[in-house]
Amino acid sequence: FKVPKAINEPVKSYAPNSPEKEAVLAAYKKMWNTQIDVPLYIGSEEIRTGNTKNITPPHDHKHIVGSYHLAEKKHVESAIANALESKAAWANMAWEQRAAIFLKAAELIAGPYRARINAATMIGQSKNIHQAEIDASCELIDFLRFNVEFMTQIYADQPTSDSAIWNRLEYRPLEGFIYAITPFNFTAIAANLPASAAMMGNVVIWKPSDSQVFSAKIIIEIFKEAGLPNGVINVVFGDAAMITDTILASRDFAGLHYTGSTFVFKDLWAKIGSNIHHYKTYPRIVGETGGKDFVMVHPSANVKQAVTGIVRGAFEFQGQKCSAASRVYIPKSLWPAIKEQLTIDIQSMKMGSPEDFSNFITAVIHEGSFDKLAGYIDRAKKDTDAEIIIGGNYDKSVGYFIEPTVILTTNPKYVTMETELFGPVLTIYVYEDSKWIETLELIDQTSEYALTGAIFSQNRYAIEEATVKLQNAAGNLYINDKPTGAVVGQQPFGGARASGTNDKAGSAMNLLRWVSPRTIKEVF
Ligand code: SER
Repeated sequence: FKVPKAINEPVKSYAPNSPEKEAVLAAYKKMWNTQIDVPLYIGSEEIRTGNTKNITPPHDHKHIVGSYHLAEKKHVESAIANALESKAAWANMAWEQRAAIFLKAAELIAGPYRARINAATMIGQSKNIHQAEIDASCELIDFLRFNVEFMTQIYADQPTSDSAIWNRLEYRPLEGFIYAITPFNFTAIAANLPASAAMMGNVVIWKPSDSQVFSAKIIIEIFKEAGLPNGVINVVFGDAAMITDTILASRDFAGLHYTGSTFVFKDLWAKIGSNIHHYKTYPRIVGETGGKDFVMVHPSANVKQAVTGIVRGAFEFQGQKCSAASRVYIPKSLWPAIKEQLTIDIQSMKMGSPEDFSNFITAVIHEGSFDKLAGYIDRAKKDTDAEIIIGGNYDKSVGYFIEPTVILTTNPKYVTMETELFGPVLTIYVYEDSKWIETLELIDQTSEYALTGAIFSQNRYAIEEATVKLQNAAGNLYINDKPTGAVVGQQPFGGARASGTNDKAGSAMNLLRWVSPRTIKEVF
């Protein structure tokens, strides 16, 4: 099967006076000054329930940019009914037709929608322009293009046959519907979870995060403009517990595609398990959850390269990536040089509104996150085994701003070495150079998570040692690079342990979870 060759979407620079900069700023200003009303999308209808919540940018939380409508139980039930009604036509549609819809969506984002989806991500999720571009434009386009290619590879994979017998595999969608629960931190992930299941012929109920409503609206509009039939992806907002309970009560619930917190995922898994006798099939459960991602620096490391990796890994998008560097291990011999470079690099980062493109750091997502992070910073100021060596200030009077903060601890099991904070707070532990092996073991044992990690070393033997010792500690391991920013088609993404089911987003492995193949043997 030949489809257009998937290529990674080039990242635009947004240099001063560039046309892309003018376009995104114009879209930003227009959205900032328009009250946008976000309905539920169920079947062919846009439903305005009248029970609404305001949408406010995290970097200016008193400014209302719109509102979104909250579903009641009857709307969720209607979404399920609409999905199931749309199922047969969608599942039986030629795969080329389904593929074409998602390829068209990719081109709509690459072209006419790029400024709008980036601006919505900058306003609603407080991403700076570069972070919005690599997420809402490039990664989302890549997911759509590469998944079409992976889909065709799956369909092409067939058993052997001989002249009198024809064995074939039909990659049917799951029987029932898929529930996609998506996070605020990546517009691309939010779109990919419903889209990847739908691409394989499934119908979906999509519940976006309350903090990603703005860009979710644009995504569903793009999919519809690209030709997605009504009812294939239905969007509901509102009370997560009510929506989940209503969905899991359906006998036709066939799978969960989830990205979010570990706690919620385990709770969902338990609920699905306790309901197992009720379902028509064993539901597929695919989840990407938390991380407590490490950076291990070997005494042979290139200091500048390591510091760049630490700073970008820890502070891009205010550290709100499940892959973000959050616990760093530095050998005593390199600490003075690393500390000096780290201070220079962090102090050069500007903080403020994403509308000013020179701001690297903007606000964290909401007040709950701000308060939690401020609490850990205050605690580090008091604890005897920790000290704040860079940053440590915060202010929520206009937006939820937390300075990029570095905690130095003498306790390798200090609370912020173990707990996922999801913000711009990094903790460093300095180890004795002679304790390299013991420190690798410590890294493996310190966290319940195993999502990403990075090793900085110029010594091949040390790289090999770390790769072996940390074989279960990260689903994505980076050598001499930051632990964030997996590129679709290059680094399939996902982790194990408490970080998820490791079904690698952006790969055929993930798409295979959304099919229920039928084997047919025909004798002639
Ligand atoms: N895929 C993202 C990254 O690699 C995290 O979800 O940073």
